[in-house]
Amino acid sequence: MLFDIKQHEKSIFSLISQVAEELDYPVFVIGGYVRDRLLARPSKDIDIVCVGDGITLARKVAKSLSPEPKVAIYKRFGTAMFNHRGMEVEFVGARRESYRFESRNPTVDDGTLEDDQNRRDLTINALAVSLNEYNFGEIVDPFNGLEDLESKILRTPLEPGQTFSDDPLRMMRAIRFATQLNFTIEPSTFQAIKRHKNRIKIISQERITIELEKILASDQPSIGFKLLFDSELLEIIFPEMHALYGVEVKRGLGHKDNFFHTLKVIDNICKNTDDIWLRWAALFHDIAKPPTKRFDPKIGWTFHGHEALGAKMVPRIFRRLRLPMDAKMKYVQKLVRLHLRPISLTKENITDSAIRRLLFETGDDIDDLMILCEADITSKNPKKVKRYLSNYELVREKLKEVEAKDSLRNWEPPISGELIMETFDITPSREVGIIKNAIREAILDGEIPNEYQDAFDFMLVKGEELGLTRIAASK
Ligand code: CTP
Repeated sequence: MLFDIKQHEKSIFSLISQVAEELDYPVFVIGGYVRDRLLARPSKDIDIVCVGDGITLARKVAKSLSPEPKVAIYKRFGTAMFNHRGMEVEFVGARRESYRFESRNPTVDDGTLEDDQNRRDLTINALAVSLNEYNFGEIVDPFNGLEDLESKILRTPLEPGQTFSDDPLRMMRAIRFATQLNFTIEPSTFQAIKRHKNRIKIISQERITIELEKILASDQPSIGFKLLFDSELLEIIFPEMHALYGVEVKRGLGHKDNFFHTLKVIDNICKNTDDIWLRWAALFHDIAKPPTKRFDPKIGWTFHGHEALGAKMVPRIFRRLRLPMDAKMKYVQKLVRLHLRPISLTKENITDSAIRRLLFETGDDIDDLMILCEADITSKNPKKVKRYLSNYELVREKLKEVEAKDSLRNWEPPISGELIMETFDITPSREVGIIKNAIREAILDGEIPNEYQDAFDFMLVKGEELGLTRIAASK
């Protein structure tokens, strides 16, 4: 079968073809680029494999381009690449690899195209397109990758145990592709993932997390998390998430399965945001339900304090997953800690004060918190869903009203510690903190407006209560 070479590919592919012919190297486009083009997905880097020296080929092709691109050479890997019209074109000599059991680092020898295709992870990733003059554009498909693309099947080119044992990251990749492409992992391939799950331990956490994050960035991440669960990889790479699974029943009372609930929340939120950190927050929101679970004979199952403990667990898990320990982590932590607050606002009579407090604590993240809360509605009863959503709509309106009145988002105290010290001629002390807190509480409770003069007068009263005297002329 012929690959439909597009106009914009023709000139670079023809040039590579010509140069390789001069060097007497058989040459092919291979891997992800071919797969994505056949699936009409946006294609990224172009991988070129030749039977010969990839670096020599890259240098020679670059020389024939004008302007001549700068070639980056990775001697250790025998690869070279340059940027061409916004695409990275990477060159490598065809390889044959053999792996040792205890390590990911293979012994690499020169090989044929077939050797190179054999050592790839999935049949759909082993497709090559010939750039040789005699069959330019022909798809070389020794493992029926085209058929698998058509029937949406993921399988390994060789015996799956060997492919996964050679490079256990491929187990994660298979699950990630199943999620991104909505493909099915062929049963014996999936069984092999289960069999070799423990080999994942030799893979660096960074690479595992990249795959996890790609699953989370997909349209329907639950596909991947279910596969991770079923393959028993999840228990190894993310035990806290695995622990969400299961329903305990006591005296005929059960609770919902928090694993499937979390997956639903993640899928829900993905419809409303592409922000990966908000998606992580959805994944983490109930993470402390297992360790806070109790059975109360009067009310049944409770998870008291799971939002606070969950927020506490976030940094530990972020560190282990090698996720950034910066403002992003704090953001996820904050959303986990506050995720029950909007619900409580729908239950009681909503007071301005409660709304103000939430605004004060969330700052600019209030909209994201509301998106998380709406995604957290997973009832199967459409009437209930409608009612919960309209309750949140009320909360949103109320938030808007209070926000317009008090502009409490990113609140800065109208009275600084310095002003308090100056006014009463005191040095940094307990009293300064007491007055500052009292002003904040008074504003949040709506006792005084969020205005300088009101806060100033309030400060004078509080100071007096504490036995402080205002020095003359302070204003
Ligand atoms: N590959 C592999 N085993 C791996 C990683 C990659 O066999 N652990 C092979 C596959 O043939 C893959 C190619 O190397 O198509 C290029 O890998 P990479 O660029 O990492 O992935 P892509 O398949 O292009 O897809 P993505 O960029 O989405 O990861």
